[in-house]
Amino acid sequence: MKLGLNLSFAVKRWLGGRQMAAVVRELGFDKIQFTWDLIDPWWPEGPRDKIAREYARAFEDAGITVDSAFGGVASYSYNHFLAPTPELRDLGKQHLMRAIDLTAAMDVRAAGMPFGSYSAEDAVDPARREEIYKQALEAMVEVSRHAKRAGLSNILIEPVPLKTEFPSSAEDALRLMTDLDGQTDVPVRLLVDWGHAIFTPLFGNDANMDHWMDLVGPYIDSFHIQQTDGLYDRHWNFTRAGVIDRALLEDFWQRRGLTTQTYFLEIIYPFEERDEVVMADMKAGIALLRR
Ligand SMILES: [Fe+2]
Ligand SMILES: [Fe+2]
Repeated sequence: MKLGLNLSFAVKRWLGGRQMAAVVRELGFDKIQFTWDLIDPWWPEGPRDKIAREYARAFEDAGITVDSAFGGVASYSYNHFLAPTPELRDLGKQHLMRAIDLTAAMDVRAAGMPFGSYSAEDAVDPARREEIYKQALEAMVEVSRHAKRAGLSNILIEPVPLKTEFPSSAEDALRLMTDLDGQTDVPVRLLVDWGHAIFTPLFGNDANMDHWMDLVGPYIDSFHIQQTDGLYDRHWNFTRAGVIDRALLEDFWQRRGLTTQTYFLEIIYPFEERDEVVMADMKAGIALLRR
């Protein structure tokens, strides 16, 4: 199986290209996914892109490929494309466009994030959901034009395990892919998170990656991997016991004949965890995956 490293574990700890490249190398990776938790897409574009290029140059010098740039915890806090008002939805669209610009400044092929969240009121109103969803599709087509102009080759959407968001199930994801197919200037594809896809409280018997593969396999660009208990979306490291392990990931990779769809390790630590503990735990978790 092909492993890559999402940089969420490093947020607020190892900053700037020099430090981050050294940490990535120390962990033995040459393929990473950058996170917008390190650079806010809303920062003024002058300093923002200068910082982005500094990261990109340091990674290049260290022989590290940046596969994609992805929304992290900060970006996920907002409702974006499915927000309750036109103003908020427009800001969501601008957020992704600005993130695409930041991604282009790093000369990276793809930018991605979850699609959006409905408000509590809208989430239980099928007509409102549908109305907002239709507008979100149009916004996405517009964003794809922007992505093409910026030089990107893909936009990625990550399904999330909440009924109040979209897409959450594999069926939702298939609908989004089908609705956008052929409409966008660059292909919109899926990044599927193992900890989201096998979320039993929401998906029941369908909470397994084979179900996802059967429904949306051809649309899956890449994966996030993390340890979880299946009860919440934990983003634990593999040093903890849970429902995912190396054997499961490896078996799936082999059985489904995966070749290019990298498993990006997406581990999130409590902010109060000490830096040396994070580094040691990352090394231990990666050793378990590579065993
Ligand atoms: Fe994820
Ligand atoms: Fe998650």
